[in-house]
Amino acid sequence: MSKDIKHVGVFCSGGDAPGMNAAIRAVVRTCAHNDLHVHGIYNGYEGLIEGDIARLETRDVANIMHKGGTVLKTARSERFRTKAGRKAAYETILAHDLDAIIAIGGNGTMTGAKIFEEEFGIPFIGIPGTIDNDLFGTDYTIGFDTAVNTAIEAVDKIRDTADSHNRLFFIEVMGRHSGYIALYTGIGSGAGGILIPEIGTDVDELMTVLQKMMKRKKLFGLIIVAEGNENGTCQEVADLVARELTNYEVKVAVIGHLQRGGSPTAMDRILASRMGYGAVTGLLNGISKVMCGVHNNEVVYVPIKDAIKKKKDIEKELLELAEILSM
Ligand code: F6P
Repeated sequence: MSKDIKHVGVFCSGGDAPGMNAAIRAVVRTCAHNDLHVHGIYNGYEGLIEGDIARLETRDVANIMHKGGTVLKTARSERFRTKAGRKAAYETILAHDLDAIIAIGGNGTMTGAKIFEEEFGIPFIGIPGTIDNDLFGTDYTIGFDTAVNTAIEAVDKIRDTADSHNRLFFIEVMGRHSGYIALYTGIGSGAGGILIPEIGTDVDELMTVLQKMMKRKKLFGLIIVAEGNENGTCQEVADLVARELTNYEVKVAVIGHLQRGGSPTAMDRILASRMGYGAVTGLLNGISKVMCGVHNNEVVYVPIKDAIKKKKDIEKELLELAEILSM
């Protein structure tokens, strides 16, 4: 066990994700259990630069498990990208005697922590918190399950009106560079088509699918499009299809930030609790420069360079399944 770690800083950075509060709670309470002091840093790396930091006790994280968003707030920091910004952040670390940090967020958050460690030698562990589920080495990231459930609920509602009016809906879900939300939402809502960046949009293929649908006298349709779809936005693809397939009345719906809010699902609460606990015990065991993930239902520590650089592949089996079931 490392004797050096007595004061731990925890923050969230990047886009919020439902379940981040459960992770914060787990970090604070696991630290308390091990007689460590925890400091909550507000607004991510911005708060580290500004010294926006406060001691967190066990009772401070009561009654937050079920809440969406993050009680520590979050931000995307441009200043932390600069050396001067990182130096200011290091001053905060020194002023508060922090021995290690736990950073909850996505790819940008992990990258920031890695650079910070390289420059100033601050041990850290990352916790994957992003609805996009795009970090390598963990099966799921915190917030993904909740976001997919929210998106499916929205698509179910769109299905009702699409069916009543015989309309073809193109529905955009989040995922800047990742098709995970689109794929899982598409399968879970029984969509007719799914367009994701990982496999590119083959509009000709989509047309064939839609023409087959028309031949089968399927009068309405739901196509899920990932925000990061590479060959056109949801609106662009819908416009293109509307020009070619004049029998269908085409509509577009963008689910947007609805997917980022709301009370986390049981899966996200438990995942986040395991990761928060895993991050603290990892630090106590002298582990650093890793992301604490869950793979095959076991807590794992993924080298940070792998988590941010290696590509998380979309499961081929799911792609095939989605295609077969959409017929
Ligand atoms: O957090 C991930 C994410 O929700 C992406 O799916 C999306 O592209 C992006 O954040 C939106 O970010 P912002 O809320 O800053 O517009």
